[in-house]
Amino acid sequence: MITPDIHAERILVLDFGSEYTQLIARKVRTAGVYCEVHPFDMEEGALRDFNPKGIILSCDPGAAPLVADPQPVAAAYQLDVPLLSIGYEHARLPARVQKIPDYDNTSSPGLIQQFVLQDCGCTGLWTPANIIEDAIASVRAQVGERQVLLGLSGGVDSSVVAALLHRAIGNQLTCVFVDHGLLRLHEGDQVMRMFADNMGVKVIRVDAEQRFLERLKGVSDPEEKRKIIGRTFIEVFDEEAAKLEGIDFLAQGTIYPDIIESVAIKHGKARVIKSHHNVGGLPEDMKFELVEPLKELFKDEVRKLGVELGLPEAMVYRHPFPGPGLGVRILGEINKEYADLLRQADHIFIEELRNWVDESTGKNWYDLTSQAFAVFVPVKSVGVVNDERRYAWVVSLRAVETIDFMTARWAHLPYGLIEKVSTRIITEIENISRVVYDVSSKPPATIEWE
Ligand code: XMP
Repeated sequence: MITPDIHAERILVLDFGSEYTQLIARKVRTAGVYCEVHPFDMEEGALRDFNPKGIILSCDPGAAPLVADPQPVAAAYQLDVPLLSIGYEHARLPARVQKIPDYDNTSSPGLIQQFVLQDCGCTGLWTPANIIEDAIASVRAQVGERQVLLGLSGGVDSSVVAALLHRAIGNQLTCVFVDHGLLRLHEGDQVMRMFADNMGVKVIRVDAEQRFLERLKGVSDPEEKRKIIGRTFIEVFDEEAAKLEGIDFLAQGTIYPDIIESVAIKHGKARVIKSHHNVGGLPEDMKFELVEPLKELFKDEVRKLGVELGLPEAMVYRHPFPGPGLGVRILGEINKEYADLLRQADHIFIEELRNWVDESTGKNWYDLTSQAFAVFVPVKSVGVVNDERRYAWVVSLRAVETIDFMTARWAHLPYGLIEKVSTRIITEIENISRVVYDVSSKPPATIEWE
């Protein structure tokens, strides 16, 4: 079977600073059509070369327009392709532009889908199966017979890269999995079981818990902890890479929002700048060529690809987990005792979220929340268990609902669920005497406690 050129049909989304731009682009993709997001003042030549089948102008009606004049998009008007404006100041637009007042209106009969499929005449080539075939072909063309190294974190993105590269180049792929001792319960074993045992991927597991804990001893400042974890991670990864011979490529799980954000930051147009980076950030002096097979994909597309590649849904749809792991969920100084207690409490919370089904939606509370975890609070509190006084630690449960993780609402979990989790944690974990629930939304609070 010949794989169609999945980029042949393309929609251009011009971003005028709307917070909905990525949601619009995702709707285009969900309709089965490739699209790219570019700043509203995209260079004219680049705009023509992009050769779109249609153009969407994305502007936030509530915000002052970033440009007083629609000239920067004059080139777009000149192209003989359908144009759709969402939220743009309509009075200024030529009559032939279709106009939708704001993003909320796009859901009524599926307006974006209608625009790309009917008005622009796209046929829907952008499907998970086609994307996989295309990615496999381009990885093979890039890598040839040579060797690729991948830092496998167990997170969704690097896991999907591993599965994809394994399918494309088999044992030319070597993964390094660094266990920094701040992972969730049994996480390291699960990663090894799935990739090494079941899929036959070459994975080198590095047990670096002691080194990380040693470096973190006595450090309580959150940013300092992040830096130490990041630096030590790179050091360990670097050492392992140096032991391998004949590696020319380094694979990374960069996804499309990372690229959109870095372009926006470069142009000074990002609405919100994330200050943190993944622990996997690698030094610039590494002499590898990069392989980034997910760099055109949104997170939901990465997940669909993962399922199509045979990864378990429970793994692919897992909540995000920060690179520094439990390091930012143990407040202040980190030690193994705290990490072990937190791992157990977190495990109970996640288990009960998965077990507790909401009757109105039929979904469990793990799937109904965007991120949920336990936080270790290094404060001792008095409790009574089996008539015995207990003076032990406190954990907080945190669960949020969000679309983009930039803002979030604390999840209104059923009281019965919170009660069950609390009872289990206090009775099953000897050194925890109290459980609290975090009812802070973002902003002003952040999702993580540190
Ligand atoms: P905050 O706490 O900033 O979190 O509201 C937003 C999202 O980012 C994740 N997060 C991190 N991810 N390294 C990461 O890879 C980090 O240092 C880091 N800090 C926060 C957090 O889990 C949430 O999904």
